Amino acid sequence: MDTRVIFQDVATVATPMLCVFAVDLATGKDIDPMPVLLTTSDAITSGSGRFVRSGEFKAALGETMLLHAPAGVKAERLLLVGLGKAKTLSADHVRKGAGAAVRAAKPRGIREIAIAFPEDHALSDEHLEELPCTLTARALTEGAELAEPDWDTYRSNRKDLSVRQLTIVAKEEEPSTRVEIEAGFADGLALAAAQNFARALVNEPGNVLTPTVLAARTKAMCDEAGLPCEVYSTAKLAELKMGAFAAVAQGSAEPPALIVMTYTPEGGAAESAPVLGLVGKGITFDTGGISLKPADNMEKMKYDMAGAAAMIGAMKGIAALKPRVKVIGVICSAENMPDGKAYKPGDVVTAMSGKTIEIINTDAEGRLVLADGLHYAKTLGCTHLIDAATLTGACVVALGHLNVGLFSNDETAWEKFMAGTAASGEKFWRLPCTDDYREQIKSQIGDIMNTGGRPGGAITAAMFLKEFADDTPWIHLDIAGCAWNEETKPWLPKGPTGIAVRSIVEWVRGYGQSA
Ligand code: BES
Ligand code: MN
Ligand code: ZN
Repeated sequence: MDTRVIFQDVATVATPMLCVFAVDLATGKDIDPMPVLLTTSDAITSGSGRFVRSGEFKAALGETMLLHAPAGVKAERLLLVGLGKAKTLSADHVRKGAGAAVRAAKPRGIREIAIAFPEDHALSDEHLEELPCTLTARALTEGAELAEPDWDTYRSNRKDLSVRQLTIVAKEEEPSTRVEIEAGFADGLALAAAQNFARALVNEPGNVLTPTVLAARTKAMCDEAGLPCEVYSTAKLAELKMGAFAAVAQGSAEPPALIVMTYTPEGGAAESAPVLGLVGKGITFDTGGISLKPADNMEKMKYDMAGAAAMIGAMKGIAALKPRVKVIGVICSAENMPDGKAYKPGDVVTAMSGKTIEIINTDAEGRLVLADGLHYAKTLGCTHLIDAATLTGACVVALGHLNVGLFSNDETAWEKFMAGTAASGEKFWRLPCTDDYREQIKSQIGDIMNTGGRPGGAITAAMFLKEFADDTPWIHLDIAGCAWNEETKPWLPKGPTGIAVRSIVEWVRGYGQSA
């Protein structure tokens, strides 16, 4: 999509479809909706007033109503887009609303749209807290860009319904506001590109996106972004003594890939400065291995590399946004297969850290590859770690599809992460990983078992990882429930979500504000 910002009176913009946001001023639940447009353009409010007052359009979040050629407005069509209650209006609602606008254009074959930048001062002050300009511009851009792709990539009768041009129209205001809107716009474009890159990787089937192909695509992205990227395979795993990662990979005909991406801020980083390690689970297909998964829904396990994709996407975003902090991305990619050479329950493997792991279930493979990834990141000099993984079904049971499970051994790292979610709009819920859970994964024959039974399955998985993060401040994101959108939403199609990319970038920016 070719996206731009212009500063002009919205009523004078020639476009096939002009999208205008609306909020509902009604507060109590028994009161009829009171939609109000977030524009100060008289031409638009009077041209659409009849419809806004009709009761047909309630301004619910993601709701749209299409009007044709209202008088006094140069656009051919006017699309009213609901952002929900005025009281709860946030940049995230603008993100969703912008997405709903793009998604409304697509089935109608409309290729060019304009979105009016929301003017919250169209409302009286009592109704809402002011939306900050930069964040609003960022969210609007991001939401529109995220809504554009459809994930039916391999359909031979695929219709091209892409929206090719988006014009964001803001009022001609004072130069400082312009600068803020333009900055938010640039930020949104970079973040959306990072997320869409991750989503495209997650969408690929397992036969296309093997660990080798994931590495090649990552390398190509890094080359373009100017990030050094090293790709290793079986021999390097043996050399580094990554016994846990290698065990998972050994049952597949596809060789594993260990990918290391490095971002160094301009002018280098001080010796004492933090080095952030981004570690991603990249299982390109998870059959469960010898502890084979049931056939039902096994096809979904192509998205078991969404944690890796999140980190690769985040590195792309970081390369574009240039925070003043060093970041190393470590991706552990393998295919988990049953085979004559596959690892088995009862096997004991030695991780890179030297810890011995008793394999109880070969389907708990993610924590094994991450154990070596986390330890390796520390040996590369990382002082702070974050990992993302579609790690457990138990996390999906606990939190559903709305919150990512978050675990941490460090209050400061966690607080920094949560602070960033105000801008990202993504939801995370912290679960415990206190040492008293360690008992559940104690092994009789070795140091640790790779599963801890059904109770607290997401927690014992995190406990396993914590063992390898050790004293290093660490955050673990279990994205199993949030990486794939199972239901079409007004602002997002079914398919990969790109979850956690923007929150991870925000966390990184928290350690080094953009240059
Ligand atoms: N990749 C799965 C977790 C998963 C489940 C992701 C559902 C997305 C949706 C992971 O490797 C796995 O199989 N975990 C097991 C762990 C168990 C054997 C302790 C699980 O959750 O059942
Ligand atoms: Mn598994
Ligand atoms: Zn898995």
